[in-house]
Amino acid sequence: MVVPRIGKQSLCGIIGFAKSSKASLRCPEILRDGLRRLEYRGYDSAGIAVLSQGLLTIVKDVGSVEKIIESPGFSMLDGGVAIGHTRWATHGKPSKDNAHPHTDCRKRIAVVHNGIIENYMDLKRLLLEEGHVFTSETDTEVIAHLIEHFKSLGEKSFEAFKKAVSMLRGSYALAVIDVDEPDKIFFARNVSPLLIGLGSGVNFVSSDLASFVKYTNRVVVLMDGELGYISASDVHLELGGKPVDISSRIRVVELDAQSIEKGGFHHYMAKEIFEQPYALAQTFSALQTQNLSEVLKILAEARRVYIVGAGTSYHASLLGAIAFKRFLGLEAEALISSEFKVVSRAIKWGDVVIGVSQSGETIDTLLALREAREKGAKTVALVNNPFSTIARESDYVISMRAGPEIAVAATKTFTTQVLTLLYIVARLAEFIGSIDVDYRALIQGLKISHEVAQNILKASVEICKAIATELARKQSAYYLGRVFGVPIAMEGALKLKEIAYIHAEAYPAGESKHGPIALIENGFPVIFIYLGFLDELLESNVEEMKARGAYIITVAQGDTTLSSIARYSNTIIKMPKAPLEARLVTYAIPLQLIAYYTSIMKGLDPDKPRNLAKTVTVI
Ligand code: G6P
Repeated sequence: MVVPRIGKQSLCGIIGFAKSSKASLRCPEILRDGLRRLEYRGYDSAGIAVLSQGLLTIVKDVGSVEKIIESPGFSMLDGGVAIGHTRWATHGKPSKDNAHPHTDCRKRIAVVHNGIIENYMDLKRLLLEEGHVFTSETDTEVIAHLIEHFKSLGEKSFEAFKKAVSMLRGSYALAVIDVDEPDKIFFARNVSPLLIGLGSGVNFVSSDLASFVKYTNRVVVLMDGELGYISASDVHLELGGKPVDISSRIRVVELDAQSIEKGGFHHYMAKEIFEQPYALAQTFSALQTQNLSEVLKILAEARRVYIVGAGTSYHASLLGAIAFKRFLGLEAEALISSEFKVVSRAIKWGDVVIGVSQSGETIDTLLALREAREKGAKTVALVNNPFSTIARESDYVISMRAGPEIAVAATKTFTTQVLTLLYIVARLAEFIGSIDVDYRALIQGLKISHEVAQNILKASVEICKAIATELARKQSAYYLGRVFGVPIAMEGALKLKEIAYIHAEAYPAGESKHGPIALIENGFPVIFIYLGFLDELLESNVEEMKARGAYIITVAQGDTTLSSIARYSNTIIKMPKAPLEARLVTYAIPLQLIAYYTSIMKGLDPDKPRNLAKTVTVI
């Protein structure tokens, strides 16, 4: 397999379409739907460029996509070719000038870009010397001027585009329109994801399937180095100057437009929390149909297993690594993807590295897996998006079926990741003939985890709302657990930070007396995760916290007989009786609800937390 060069990326989203005049679709609708679907990738500014009757219209601004959609004249736009962009600033602050699309001096070429052009300063210097006038601080603008430069030397638009692309170093997904080729969108991909959507009388180019799935589910995933153009009726693709036949590359994806609507909920996050029973059931049945024999074989033979991920996916990785060790006694270690270098020298041929990533595009995880492969390890992708770069580049792919997750804060993909990792552990126990693990019982527990999730959701909404009312007034909170409870506590703390902007930290409960307890004063919220597994270890930690005035919230099985829970808790979230593996999958759910309702109580928008993006493709 060719390992593409490593590049830095940014987090923007791009959409472009070319439609025939006979197609009934309207330009403003396609752009509006596309931009809204892309907004989760980044949202400090947005913009569009539309070609109509030889004229290029550009609307862009700082702020949310709604500003563009509601701008005067937007609903009247009438073009057969258009591009749009949502930005998460890397080069240059969020501002109207820095928003995409960017144009050449004569405003005849418009460019949208996701990625980072590493040599843009050199190119800009040359273009400035030639007299080009720049209007932004971005790296992207050089692309428009470069195309203009090659056209001024006599090249036709597409040739000029290709020459410009050949000069770029770094990562890019590009969509470019040019007044001189009014029915085409030029595109190119290197490192940053880009897809072509094939509709009837309309074709799309986008960084994200969700932006056009309402119109078609026939897609071609572009590879690094590919470039070409779309028109309403044609797709031209080439690699290294040679045409590429796309007919064998067309895939029909199972994603319906409804699954990316809010479905009656106020926020995607709420929708995604409440659809966890479905996501778990779907993922469990998908796992049963996947052939895992090769993966089980390499895991059984591995000297050591590393599980890597970022953010929420790291927390799932941690829980997975604990399960490998506690249940199977195997050498397993979870690592934050961006810290993979810690073990670079320790990786040996035959080790297995599992990359856990909802999107399959997180650059830190991708780079960790690339490094692992270079060192001779086998790589396994555990992803929610089987078409992603991480899936494509890994030796083996295990796909979850959580459905699209739009809210920035991951919820259903955490529980489905945990389910998947525990399923692998169960199947591995069967494969190696472990006498310590009853794999049938483990699988049975996982099978019913969707029902447990349903019961938790039914039982804990009101109590989580009440807790949120308390937390909304606080500055900080601790989340404490032991063993498996630690990653769940970490996930709870991350959720509260991300969407409610409350400083929250998680610790192994036993560690809390070695420093964190210094902060405890009257009313300081401490959330204890009683998993029904080594719970007695938590008893003295709860007492210690209570003695210093902490406001104690416990997540615990309703039938527990532990006295510390009843004696010291201010509030108990009673969890239904369930086997351990189903508890491991589902105990993050009340913590997600607490964070969600706290965000609402504070008047925040949980779907759009500040400074964050859903898919992080910057190092
Ligand atoms: C971002 C998101 C997190 C996510 C992390 C890893 O930081 O905001 O919610 O957990 O990326 O994403 P991945 O797609 O690799 O799971």
